[in-house]
Amino acid sequence: MKRRLFVTTALPYANGRPHIGHIMEYIQADIWVRFQKMRGHEVYFVCAEDAHGAPIMIAAESAGKTPRQFIDEMRDARQQYLDGFNIAFDHWHTTDSPENVELSLSIYSALKANDFISTRTIEQFFDPVKGMFLPDRYIKGTCPVCGAKDQYGDNCEVCGSTYAPTDLIDPYSVLTGARPELKSSEHFFFRLSDPRCVNFLREWTTQTNRHGEPRLQPEVYAKTQEWLGTAGKGLADWDISRDAPYFGIPIPDAPGKYFYTWFDAPIGYLASLNAYFDQGKARANGELRSFDEFLAADDVEQIHFIGKDIIYFHTLFWPAMLKSSGRKVPDSIYVHGFLTLNAEKLSKSRGISIDPLRYLEVGMNPEWFRYFVAAKLNGRVEDIDFNPDDFMLRVNSDLIGKYVNIASRAASFIGKHFDGQLAYRDERSLLDAARATSTLVAEAIEAREFGKALRDVMAAADRINEAFDAAEPWKLAKEPARHADLQHICSSALHGFKVLSVCLAPVLPATAQRIAREFFGLDRDFVWSDADSLPLHITPYKHLMTRVDAKQLDALFESPAAPAEAPPLPGGVAISDAITIDEFSKIDFRIAKIVDAGYVEGSDKLLRLTLDAGEGRHRNVFSGIKSAYAPEDLVGKLTVLVANLAPRKMKFGVSEGMVLAASHGDEKQHPGIYLLDPHTGAQPGMRVK
Ligand code: MSP
Ligand code: ZN
Repeated sequence: MKRRLFVTTALPYANGRPHIGHIMEYIQADIWVRFQKMRGHEVYFVCAEDAHGAPIMIAAESAGKTPRQFIDEMRDARQQYLDGFNIAFDHWHTTDSPENVELSLSIYSALKANDFISTRTIEQFFDPVKGMFLPDRYIKGTCPVCGAKDQYGDNCEVCGSTYAPTDLIDPYSVLTGARPELKSSEHFFFRLSDPRCVNFLREWTTQTNRHGEPRLQPEVYAKTQEWLGTAGKGLADWDISRDAPYFGIPIPDAPGKYFYTWFDAPIGYLASLNAYFDQGKARANGELRSFDEFLAADDVEQIHFIGKDIIYFHTLFWPAMLKSSGRKVPDSIYVHGFLTLNAEKLSKSRGISIDPLRYLEVGMNPEWFRYFVAAKLNGRVEDIDFNPDDFMLRVNSDLIGKYVNIASRAASFIGKHFDGQLAYRDERSLLDAARATSTLVAEAIEAREFGKALRDVMAAADRINEAFDAAEPWKLAKEPARHADLQHICSSALHGFKVLSVCLAPVLPATAQRIAREFFGLDRDFVWSDADSLPLHITPYKHLMTRVDAKQLDALFESPAAPAEAPPLPGGVAISDAITIDEFSKIDFRIAKIVDAGYVEGSDKLLRLTLDAGEGRHRNVFSGIKSAYAPEDLVGKLTVLVANLAPRKMKFGVSEGMVLAASHGDEKQHPGIYLLDPHTGAQPGMRVK
């Protein structure tokens, strides 16, 4: 049966570039979508910029741009990340588009007509200097529970308490530092507490989907039931409006009121599909699809891939919005956990991240990362950890050592002795074995058990390699009388290689494309049923994939060179975007004494510094200053340490901070590194600010 699928990933906020966690989400969905397309299903895979909201307005303002300019630039920049990691959305749109405005207004007016909208006056913090209401994240103050300073308006990162911004002691605006004032304003609410919503959501969350499977993963289901509440306590109405100044869609007949970005963002899923259909690109069997017909059609499955932090929005608000406006509701929400780095939460500010572009720049193969991510993913909501050693092991030992090697070993005999022709003996049993493997893998991919799928693939690769080794083809090659045996064992291995290539094609699309077209001579990419036929010839083997080199991982984790921009300044790079005093004060600079220094074996850039920052212990810091300093000249000197930089695991050990040094932006043209040297009198441990 041919399925019709409408698949999305979460719409990223347009005020930041994609990080490696976003890429992971796209890869997960892309693998699943490619698999469905290979099975012959009709799939539309779309996403968009989540363009609205106060943070985007503020980011655009501080970059001296209009929000629209800012978003357009982000959308352009996004493409190189997607292309770079072979992520193939059918369409990428934006929520500040005519399609989204129209759909949002239409859904809103249906909600209103069905009596799901109410208004209420609420009191909120207002920044009198900036003249705007402050979102919780823009208010800070002292935690009312533990007394920790500089905590956000919604929760304390020190003691973990949650509270309302009005509970903060000495609150201040992150934007201006001003003391916020309470001001009242009328807000629009979506009446989620209405029994019609609650009853619908109880049913929707509990129902199985059209395939008889639970609509939600067990842990997601459990969360929704907790939220829906069993006894009495249920859902609260949802505030869907924001006051000017706001970058968003104006609410009709309500001057100065806008839809909260989370109201129109999921509608952006529909808008993106709508735009794609309107471009006339959505065709099946030559027939042009109509958006309205498709969206409402019973057989179309609507599936959203999202991360675990936005479950509430997608399992409660979004289905309820659709249902209450008389529209079709989603079929499934597929939730994944977070990508962590060496078991730590990704954090740009703490430098715990992998820059996706840097990954590509240092020459790392995007399909390694896709393979790694797939190997780690399953159908549950579990975090997955990127660890460089694990990454190298999986790619080098499994992907290359087991799978790619089959082709390179068997193909050379076939090329040398049989002019590329393959021949089989026990065709039936080969095809049966192939079918068994491809069926297992298909079931696993369908269920998003990608790790299991890859384990099945590797188990098959082990069997192929074992049979190949047991036949000792290198001996057969030396005995012309046994060349038929040689051709059969090599052909079996290459057939196995083709089956595994089909199975891996959703994960390794570029590699599989080369294998299909160049190696097996097809005039198209693989489809899933290619696993059911025996290849008859191959072309000479060309190198398919290199191993990960540890040096590449080192380069990946070294901080990237400063971006080259117009150099009017002696430093060679333009001054960075403005930050607030609040952002600045997050960095804890301390005076540190260099108590020991030495060379680092195997590194031509680094020195190892042992620092005393007055903590009663020593710190180990690696610093890229070898070209400028001899270790013995540094011992006993003072310098400045970034003391709260998260420890970073490097090849040579853990670096517990960073020392400050000056250099030109273009170090090749203007070499020279100059460590900062505090004036006499400074003591280790003193704060620098
Ligand atoms: N704009 C909202 C989503 C609106 S959907 C109608 C948003 N944007 S986001 O940019 O913060 O996140 C986009 C997606 O990336 C979310 O699904 C989120 O869970 C996911 N991830 C954010 N950090 C992640 C990791 N560290 N690892 C994996 N996915 C991560 O939320
Ligand atoms: Zn606290």
